[in-house]
Amino acid sequence: MLTEKVRIAVLVSGGGTNLQALLDEERAGNLPDGEIVLVLSNRPDAYALERARKAGVEAVCVDRAQYPDPAAREGEMRRVLREKGVELVVLAGYLSILSEAFTAEYAGRMINIHPSLIPSFCGKGFYGLKVHEAALSYGVKVTGATVHYVNEIPDGGQIILQKAVGVREGDTPERLQKRVMRQAEWKILPRACEIVCKKLRGEEK
Ligand code: GRF
Repeated sequence: MLTEKVRIAVLVSGGGTNLQALLDEERAGNLPDGEIVLVLSNRPDAYALERARKAGVEAVCVDRAQYPDPAAREGEMRRVLREKGVELVVLAGYLSILSEAFTAEYAGRMINIHPSLIPSFCGKGFYGLKVHEAALSYGVKVTGATVHYVNEIPDGGQIILQKAVGVREGDTPERLQKRVMRQAEWKILPRACEIVCKKLRGEEK
């Protein structure tokens, strides 16, 4: 007998194109073992919140302005996640480092998408366009994206999926970022999410 689908929260800070990819794949039936039940932002102006509402998913903001103390902020996040019965946390462009206690609580149940082939161009300070600027200035010919479990080391957890993307002559960080998103991130994040949901669901049985 099949147990309930894994309840997923997606944590965001910005535009939410990765969130959109997850919502689209869920709607297309490609996330059969999971269900996105919550979108949690640390910024009230994140367009991702709008995407969640449009898809009929509960959207909550736990704001730095409202909770300036990081421990209090994480406490509120925990409360919201528990209230919603969340079993898997997906970081999709969530631009805030989570505490060791928080990552430990969700060990094996929290994943992140990073826009490079880890272990290149990752860790503290490598986020957004900075990742692609670094890849271009190093001169790599291939970059890509990685989905990995989250642990206490930024971008340091076990790798779940990676996809390579070619660098082209004349690429700017912006162009490379778009290609990495289109060719890699939006593809591997939903797939990795399903892999982890299937695994967690299997463990429940
Ligand atoms: C993506 O490049 C993701 O890999 C990184 O932050 C960006 C978020 O973009 N962690 P979006 O909000 O999903 O459009």
